[in-house]
Amino acid sequence: MTAAMTVLAVGDVVGPEAAAWLADRLPHIREKLGLDWVVVNAENCAITGPLPMDGFGMTVEAVDLLLEAGVDAITGGNHSWDGPDVDKVLAYPQVIRPVNLDEDRGQGLLTLRYGDKTLTVVNMLSPTASLSGMTAPQPRPIWSSWTELEASEELPGAILIDLHGESPWEKASFAAALDGRVAAVVGTHTHDATLRGHILPDGTGYVAELGMTGPLGFTGGGFDPVHFVAKLRGEDFTKLPPYELATGPLALGAVALEIDDHGSVTKITRVH
Ligand SMILES: [Fe+2]
Ligand SMILES: [Fe+2]
Repeated sequence: MTAAMTVLAVGDVVGPEAAAWLADRLPHIREKLGLDWVVVNAENCAITGPLPMDGFGMTVEAVDLLLEAGVDAITGGNHSWDGPDVDKVLAYPQVIRPVNLDEDRGQGLLTLRYGDKTLTVVNMLSPTASLSGMTAPQPRPIWSSWTELEASEELPGAILIDLHGESPWEKASFAAALDGRVAAVVGTHTHDATLRGHILPDGTGYVAELGMTGPLGFTGGGFDPVHFVAKLRGEDFTKLPPYELATGPLALGAVALEIDDHGSVTKITRVH
């Protein structure tokens, strides 16, 4: 099926500075941890832009930077269809967007092969995450979408799912339902890293939230929270100036997953 491998899964990169910061460090991290592949969620790497939604998504510049630094697959989420560069970004074979949407642009999964190692990366979007602004159609339910995908597509090698969603319970339920059928389910979207990695009884690795990669100030989300506070208060946040990044030191939200030749996770290590 596949030889054993080590994969680094990185959570939502917030802002161009964080993309450059990660790109700078990645060759060293790759060597130090003996990584076979690096999978990065980059849905927030283009933070600047006019409201309401052009301030998110990815830029060609940041995607090029990450790929040149050795990133093998770039995943997205509810912001996969945002920003002026969206068509160019989704045309990259290394960039995937959530598979469970009826959308012509882009692809929802990617198979990486090197020698006798094979990893298939799948990006899924929970309808809970689509509540935070979407410029694409609403996602289909994750469970039926997954079972359709599993029945209709070939998913070679070990399978890594980036599940982009709000709810840790939903992410945990999805991982438990897939135990033994995929190598790992890693959560993205809520940005604040969860502490523990779990290896389920039949070998599926699960992390509720990888955590964002970006400036750690305020609440750990990578942004100045002024728009989120306005939304909470029922105010019109679109009248505010564009989103701004948080301040403070940059943080890496990532885990290293060791996957054996049965496609099971044997070790999960938080990488800071
Ligand atoms: Fe995000
Ligand atoms: Fe998101």
